Amino acid sequence: SREAHLSSILDTVPDAMVVIDHKGIVQSFSKAAEKLFGMKGEEICGKNVSTLMPNPDREAHDDYIGHYLETGEKRIIGYGRVVTGQRADGTQFPMELHVGEATVNGERIFTGFVRDLTSRYKIEEDLRQAQ
Ligand code: HEM
Repeated sequence: SREAHLSSILDTVPDAMVVIDHKGIVQSFSKAAEKLFGMKGEEICGKNVSTLMPNPDREAHDDYIGHYLETGEKRIIGYGRVVTGQRADGTQFPMELHVGEATVNGERIFTGFVRDLTSRYKIEEDLRQAQ
């Protein structure tokens, strides 16, 4: 199936990657994303991407997407942003998020690339302490 093909591609992507539909429902979750968020693709697929973040973004994320679909105003797409992610065990971490969009078979999808910034922040903090 096309979905199996898509996930086999995503398994080779070194970065954590999440694909959602226009309602924010997770369609695909790469192996690196499973590792980073501590959950299996089969657990998160079909659920809202907001599961991967803490409040206040969690409650607002449907509106973020809705606002974009209505107005075309981009706040992350094309810019990227550092946001806070939340793992399955509830722990939070800083992450760099890049979002792209595509139309597949007439349906709008969004692709999210996630980089864990934990070790970078830790090194910066260690350097500050060392001064
Ligand atoms: C917009 C947070 C993950 C897709 C936003 C905004 C924030 C946000 C703060 C902009 C709100 C505004 O200024 O109006 C987060 C957090 C995430 C996350 C904390 C942590 C997991 C994702 C992922 C995707 C995604 C993985 C796609 C797969 C979008 C889209 C928009 C958006 C399509 C609207 C377009 C835009 O503002 O450019 N999100 N997001 N988000 N996010 Fe997320």
